[in-house]
Amino acid sequence: MASPPSSPPPASSGEKRGAPRMSKAERKRARKAGREAKAPPPPADDAGAAAPPAAEPAEKKKKKKKNKAMSRHAAYGDKPAPEGADAAAAAAAPPPPAPSAPSAPSSLEQYASLHSSPEPPLLSSLRSATAAAFPHAQHMLSGSLQGRLLRALAGLKGGGRALEIGTFTGYASLCLAEDRRVREVVTCEIDGEAAGVAREHFGRAEAGKKIRLEVGPAMDTLRKLEAEGGEPFDIVFIDADKRGYRGYVEALLSGSLLAPDALLLADNVLFKGLVLNSLPAAKAGRKKLSYWAARHQDIADDLHGFNEWVNEDPRVEATLVPLRDGITIIRRVS
Ligand SMILES: C[S@@+](CC[C@H](N)C(=O)[O-])C[C@H]1O[C@@H](n2cnc3c(N)ncnc32)[C@H](O)[C@@H]1O
Repeated sequence: MASPPSSPPPASSGEKRGAPRMSKAERKRARKAGREAKAPPPPADDAGAAAPPAAEPAEKKKKKKKNKAMSRHAAYGDKPAPEGADAAAAAAAPPPPAPSAPSAPSSLEQYASLHSSPEPPLLSSLRSATAAAFPHAQHMLSGSLQGRLLRALAGLKGGGRALEIGTFTGYASLCLAEDRRVREVVTCEIDGEAAGVAREHFGRAEAGKKIRLEVGPAMDTLRKLEAEGGEPFDIVFIDADKRGYRGYVEALLSGSLLAPDALLLADNVLFKGLVLNSLPAAKAGRKKLSYWAARHQDIADDLHGFNEWVNEDPRVEATLVPLRDGITIIRRVS
């Protein structure tokens, strides 16, 4: 888990980005502010209290208009359109290259987070503890919106048993365990330090009592679970080493660990959008990449291979949902 100093965070274990967190009251205020910004101004009452605003100097008005445009564009992560002579020059210039990979949560995702159930306090405190213990790897945690989706899907499966491959500090394990109908969550993690933080937080919640943490390589844990011959799993969240995805899905589909209508969820399948550069046409025109860019692109190439493989496998149907870093929902068809 340790990352070399002054290098980008390691990506081999997955990429997660944190969504902004707010208390329930703050979320309510934010939603209200959004409504009020769009609402028409209140009508003046009969006493005619609404006096006409004092005339603003032209220069001040112009500045205000520009600021408003800037902030509107900033909210969409965009630049304001140029005016006058600048507009003519911009029209003549070639368009800037399209960004190949969104690197920050989109405003739509923030909107979706604000209009979904809030992150429970224990998960917010786990997020802070993870940031303190793993400052270079906190991006690996599931975001709040994804956490709510995992909870909803685990609940929709009518409870039962859940499996997670790649615990890190236990955020998604706790989400999977949240619904009271879920009887057990088995989660596996190779890193002892991350597992320690997870264990500590599992001990703080009622839901945590349903979580069994296995420390070691995930494939060994799958073999162990298979040998135990316990109840099959109804939902599996795959979020460990990206290169191992195909092996995990293959082991699950060919063994006896899955319930007949189990859901498999594979995370980070868009890998920051870099999978677009794995398409044959893009690959052919690829320039020499820096060390870190090449490493990330290698992982994206593997994930692209996984995406192609799973989509062509006749045993399953796959739906790639472009939520955050991409999550594929895989269901057995037979
Ligand atoms: C992206 S993080 C998991 C995040 C977690 N699922 C969540 O949503 O909060 C991936 C984790 O998988 C672990 N991992 C990587 N390779 C593994 C392996 N072969 N077996 C078990 N865990 C592994 C890493 O140590 C890391 O903690």
